Amino acid sequence: MPGTFITFEGIDGSGKSTQLRLLGNFLRAHGCDALLTREPGGTTLGLRLREALLDAMEEVDPLTELLVFAADRAQHVRRMLRPALEAGRVVISDRYADATVAYQGAGRGFSPELISQIVQLATEGLKPDLTLLFDVSIEESTNRTTRRSNNKTFTRDRLDIEHADFHTRVRDAYLQIALAEPERVKIIDTSGPVERTQERVRAVIVPYLQSRGQLEIADFRLPIANLKQQ
Ligand code: TYD
Repeated sequence: MPGTFITFEGIDGSGKSTQLRLLGNFLRAHGCDALLTREPGGTTLGLRLREALLDAMEEVDPLTELLVFAADRAQHVRRMLRPALEAGRVVISDRYADATVAYQGAGRGFSPELISQIVQLATEGLKPDLTLLFDVSIEESTNRTTRRSNNKTFTRDRLDIEHADFHTRVRDAYLQIALAEPERVKIIDTSGPVERTQERVRAVIVPYLQSRGQLEIADFRLPIANLKQQ
């Protein structure tokens, strides 16, 4: 496929969503019109599925959860990701199939065989070219998600409040994926300030996109972008 597909993964509170936003601003400022998206909730239908899943007052059965994430992904892959990649765009998704391996596989305990069948069905084999795994200790992740919930603009959703055991299994599974696929998955250390982490992100992404001919760090493109906005 002519485009480049990048995913951001990590446990809740790893700071990946903030990093995605910062990276998106940086790429746009340098003339790379990256499509930023997310799972669950990248499409209109996906947004409704996301709300139904994450805020459900009724207890969601783990099998239902697995299938709804898969439905969200099928819609995302077929209606948004593939067309954008076929058009040659850079697409960056906040979570993708590795999340199902980590959360529903290791977290909820579904067998690797079932997980891989469901992932294959939903993605039709579409794999990221590059994945950044934002790693954080369980302790720091809990501190961050608790701070988020105290700060009233965010509510801690259902999966956020799973116990530490669950998050430990999810984190270990992500690290296993990185070990098994070191070419695709790069671990990003998220200790220290947000700016420091963003430097680490750019240190991986910029040379990668340059090597694929999808990013030229050339300031002369900036006035063109500005002119278009006027
Ligand atoms: P979201 O509010 O988007 O959180 P975050 O900003 O932390 O990504 O919620 C995503 C939640 O859904 C998160 O707890 C992980 C979970 N999830 C799965 O369990 N399986 C999946 O396949 C995906 C994509 C997400």
